Amino acid sequence: MSAPPIEVTGSARQPLGMPAATFLRSYWQKHPLLIRHAFPDFSCPLSPNDLAGLACMPEALSRIVRLDRKRDRWQLDNGPFEDSHFQGLPERDWTLLVQDVDRFDPDVARLLDFVSFLPRWRIDDVMVSYAAPGGSVGAHVDQYDVFLVQGLGQRRWQIDARPGPALGFREDAPIKLLQCFEASHDWVLAPGDVLYLPPGVPHFGEALDECLTLSIGMRAPSAGELLAAFAAERALALPEELRYADPDLAPTGDRGQLDAAALKRLRQILASAIDAPDAELSAFFGRFLSGYRRAFRATPRRITQARIGQQIEAGAVIGEAPGMRLVRDSGPEGPRLYGDGELLPIQPETAAALAQGAIDRSSWTALPETARKELGTLVRRGWLVLEQTH
Ligand code: SIN
Ligand code: CO
Repeated sequence: MSAPPIEVTGSARQPLGMPAATFLRSYWQKHPLLIRHAFPDFSCPLSPNDLAGLACMPEALSRIVRLDRKRDRWQLDNGPFEDSHFQGLPERDWTLLVQDVDRFDPDVARLLDFVSFLPRWRIDDVMVSYAAPGGSVGAHVDQYDVFLVQGLGQRRWQIDARPGPALGFREDAPIKLLQCFEASHDWVLAPGDVLYLPPGVPHFGEALDECLTLSIGMRAPSAGELLAAFAAERALALPEELRYADPDLAPTGDRGQLDAAALKRLRQILASAIDAPDAELSAFFGRFLSGYRRAFRATPRRITQARIGQQIEAGAVIGEAPGMRLVRDSGPEGPRLYGDGELLPIQPETAAALAQGAIDRSSWTALPETARKELGTLVRRGWLVLEQTH
């Protein structure tokens, strides 16, 4: 089947330029897509100065990538940075990148509504970059899907959308750069335009003027990470008696040789060892995902149940704490909630309230006292927060 159109125009009704189901079917994890005007009348949620401020904070992961064009030399500096560092930077050819900005800035966090059709736990963070003219992080590939939202200024994006691009890395640079890059598409993005890239598509974005780009990045655990984490947990649950067994053993002429029959038995025992019941597998995945790549743990809060009730009465809503990745499933004994790698059984009413998103005054008052208490505990744990709406 040939690739679908690579360029569309978004609208207020259809930010992706198509229904989410069409995007998922035709582009997600398959083909790149440029969406012009995905955010009509876009106003950038933060300024270059705000970003520089974040890059000075020790909690924020920040980097500056510089290019010396004459010598074709790349330089990488890791933050946190001193304020004065920014004064010493040249006019051109550098980029400041800050990870997890959604966690620090509620306006940036609202950008995540753009991908509200995706499971929350598939989303990693919003990384924001500020580039001086000519600034870029070179031609590279990412392992994750990304939505590159142009925030300020203009960036020229070149991508190679052809199948099977060469993926060799340069060995002389402190960042991962492709040895060869040849573009099949070349665009200039303006504020509000979005470029979606599935994993493995070579891309190169160069700032034409001072520009700010917000990347909504996905996360996907590798098979190796999953296996290592699951095996460690599962190993503890397996009985001692479950062992390599060979009731079918036949006499052998070469006692030192591992034969095909032994390999077959090994394959069988490994397969049966990881063949956990659904409830156990789901509990593992919930714990794993809610704790995966979380640079920050929940911050507990001292607040009484009565005070929570008062704040909600006054217009506050309960929502997921920024940067948390809460996951729910249905266990054999009822709903289960996962956060920071932990499992908490919850009541069906609490699960239903969490499924609705923000819990406001009317959903709070409709809840039974026991569910309100559970939500209160989650606020005190720091998994949920009270957000002021005005
Ligand atoms: C950038 O924002 O400069 C780089 C983003 C990317 O290429 O993934
Ligand atoms: Co990239």
